[in-house]
Amino acid sequence: MTTSLDYQCGFRNHFATEALPGALPQGQNSPQRCPYGLYAEQLSGSAFTAPRHHNLRSWLYRIRPSVVQSGYEPLEMGKVATSPLDNPAADPNQMRWDPAPLPEAPTDFIDGLLSVAVNGDADAQRGCGVHVYAFNRDMVERFFYNADGELLIVPQQGGLRLRTELGELDVSGGEIAVIPRGVKFQVRLAADCDAARGYICENYGMPLELPGLGPIGANGLANPRDFESPVAAYEDREGDIELVAKFSGHFWTTRLDHSPLDVVAWHGNYAPYKYDLACFNTINTVSFDHPDPSIFTVLTSPSDTDGMANIDFVIFPPRWMVAEHTFRPPWFHRNLMSEFMGLIHGTYDAKAEGFRPGGASLHNCMSPHGPDAETFEKASTAELTPQHLGNTLAFMFESRYVFHPTKAALDADFRQRDYVDVWSTLRSHFDPTTR
Ligand SMILES: [Fe+2]
Repeated sequence: MTTSLDYQCGFRNHFATEALPGALPQGQNSPQRCPYGLYAEQLSGSAFTAPRHHNLRSWLYRIRPSVVQSGYEPLEMGKVATSPLDNPAADPNQMRWDPAPLPEAPTDFIDGLLSVAVNGDADAQRGCGVHVYAFNRDMVERFFYNADGELLIVPQQGGLRLRTELGELDVSGGEIAVIPRGVKFQVRLAADCDAARGYICENYGMPLELPGLGPIGANGLANPRDFESPVAAYEDREGDIELVAKFSGHFWTTRLDHSPLDVVAWHGNYAPYKYDLACFNTINTVSFDHPDPSIFTVLTSPSDTDGMANIDFVIFPPRWMVAEHTFRPPWFHRNLMSEFMGLIHGTYDAKAEGFRPGGASLHNCMSPHGPDAETFEKASTAELTPQHLGNTLAFMFESRYVFHPTKAALDADFRQRDYVDVWSTLRSHFDPTTR
């Protein structure tokens, strides 16, 4: 494969990139004959008539068009789920999981997927699936695309090389990557690691975008220039190759006689991207009280109701805590929105223990949660000097739709069945004689 890990900066810019000089047609998208004998193929990530600021498409100039493939056959789903209809009833219980174990048998990225919770309706393009991955083998003669949604990949352990139709991305813990709906790709391990684990939000809804900044102003949170998309890279290779598709909640498989990574040049605003969460400009109180976590939104997928996200991707990064006369950790709360949380590294300030890097928690709509008893006691009496939370990076997939935990997640050995006990020792401090 022609390879270059150069990146193009900007969020959804209209990029133009070519792996061979002059491979991009000039002045039009689909000339009668493309340079180098390439085929032109448009990949649309929105309806043709979507408003301009939501309109997503790229033109790919490739060695063979994507229609050169065999018929699809059903493929075993493993532990991957989609529709809540296929899963147990949603549950108001608070849930938590230890890290999914790394496999011992040879397992690639697709075989190493386990769905934790799903909501919405993939066919109706709303909601999401939340998965964890744990694998120890490269995809070599195997490629994948997802027609059900874009994939927001959050590595927790081990680096990934994402080889996509539009070029290559290297991502590791502390970074995220987004593979748009429909883009063909394969996942390999970074050179220096023999296994990897992380989280995925499979977003069935509107593609993730940067949140509006409102009174914050022109700068802050995730800045567009810190997002990176790949430059064109291609391989001109024949072989006995499998292409796996996720379509309408099911896996399908077909054969190709060539690598699907044969895009020599492309232009447009529909492309994979990555982002280093260390670039996030964290905004928080400099007076008192604990702002809602929406202040930490990195990316949002809007729904058809203004202000109610299909999915928000929110992080809890290293930051200074300076609030005066304030209980500083997240308070006790019950929310309309449903929350799936993961921990990339370090510790999370609302939990003394039990929420481990690689682990996860689920707090559904109106299910009460908050600091555990030990954290409450400490934070209620802590001296409120400026404090730097340095060793932490947690995140949340927050959705307007109730999450249905999957059977695989409910039955998993690594589910903490006693999670609710973390609050059992919270006692009454009430004394009507002492204010
Ligand atoms: Fe919460």
